Amino acid sequence: MIVLGCESSCDETGLAVYDTERGLLADVLHSQVDLHALYGGVVPELASRDHVRRLVPLARRALAEAEVATVDLGGVAYTAGPGLSGALLTGALAARALGWALDVPTLAVHHMEGHLLSPMLEPEVPTFPFVCLLVSGGHTQLVRVDGIGRYRLLGQSIDDAAGEAFDKTAKMLGLPYPGGAALARLADAGDDEAVPMPRPMLGRPGLDFSFSGLKTAAVTRLRAFEEAATVGVEVGAASDGTADEKAGGKAGEKPDGKAGGKADEVADEKADEKADEKADEKAGGKADEKAGRAANQETGPAASRARFEADLAAGFEAAIVDVLAEKCRRALVQESLTTLVVAGGVSANRRLRAALEGVAVERGGRLYCPRPAFCTDNGAMIALAGALRLAAGECSDLSVTIHPRWPLDALTPVADAG
Ligand code: KG4
Ligand code: ZN
Repeated sequence: MIVLGCESSCDETGLAVYDTERGLLADVLHSQVDLHALYGGVVPELASRDHVRRLVPLARRALAEAEVATVDLGGVAYTAGPGLSGALLTGALAARALGWALDVPTLAVHHMEGHLLSPMLEPEVPTFPFVCLLVSGGHTQLVRVDGIGRYRLLGQSIDDAAGEAFDKTAKMLGLPYPGGAALARLADAGDDEAVPMPRPMLGRPGLDFSFSGLKTAAVTRLRAFEEAATVGVEVGAASDGTADEKAGGKAGEKPDGKAGGKADEVADEKADEKADEKADEKAGGKADEKAGRAANQETGPAASRARFEADLAAGFEAAIVDVLAEKCRRALVQESLTTLVVAGGVSANRRLRAALEGVAVERGGRLYCPRPAFCTDNGAMIALAGALRLAAGECSDLSVTIHPRWPLDALTPVADAG
């Protein structure tokens, strides 16, 4: 069955064609990053209007690239939620109208199920059961997956999602929206032990996360650095680990996650290169400019601040990675599983992928993740998830349905999956 998939839940318009026999045939994307950058975040009304402009031309392009005529389509799938209502409605209406005109079934797809299944777009696919870490801009969830639609939530963030914490901290450091990739790039120039950060929720049982305190810790450390710089305290050598204390900030809890230290050893080089390319594209010049200043031997307040920012970014990234990796390790142990899957925008993060690889290998298992381009939002994952469900006989009715809030574990199992 050949399915056209349509993603429009936030700030990317993604269209793709997936064939249950031949795999992914085309995937096209328009990112609205430039449109929202001016405002430092997504403006819902602008997002909806832009989706309206892009949907039909992108659908035509995807079909042309796939060399598929509309009459060959066996179904249409669209993201019905979670996401921004207006943005979701544009894709839902376009997909419904096309399905109705072609007289083929149309299916409402859960955005996070799209992410969860996205590693299946790769040549080597994970087999059920496995533990999946979903890390996007709006969600941080640990899920036990026993088949398509067989999801049991093991833990989730009780406040900010990991991506949200990345974005807010990046914004505070003057990096452009969305800040995750830019912050990761700046972190590469820093020392992750120079500005120690807490590891929230690691001292507690359970598999929930909390990242808002980490963002607050980053703000507190930056303020303390700025105050100290204003009163003329010597804080230039941030990388000796003393800047924070001299600046009057709290040193934070001692890092206790093991996975972070393994990150470099187990880095998957191919994934790294691709992630780098993607980061280069997305992060833009700002992070590079700061990283460059941090790395050279300059002295003076600007260089000192640049070094501090790079160290802060590195400390922040290391803390998030440690927490995510340790909770994944605990989830695998709790569920007696060895296969780990990571998906969602933050899974493009090189250090996170390397740390999770370490966790899976330590358990005698494997990590599966999508290529970086399929970590962030895309139409391919919606076409895939839709195709798997449509091929199993599912079909939504003719109403234009969206679910801006939609729990993942409310989904129905696909009978023959797994
Ligand atoms: O899955 P996604 O594209 O959209 C949502 O469904 O939310 O995830 C976007 C999130 C943003 O918060 C973005 O900053 C983050 O993924 N992100 C990263 C990286 N690339 C994207 N976070 C950390 N490191 C990265 N390399
Ligand atoms: Zn997403």
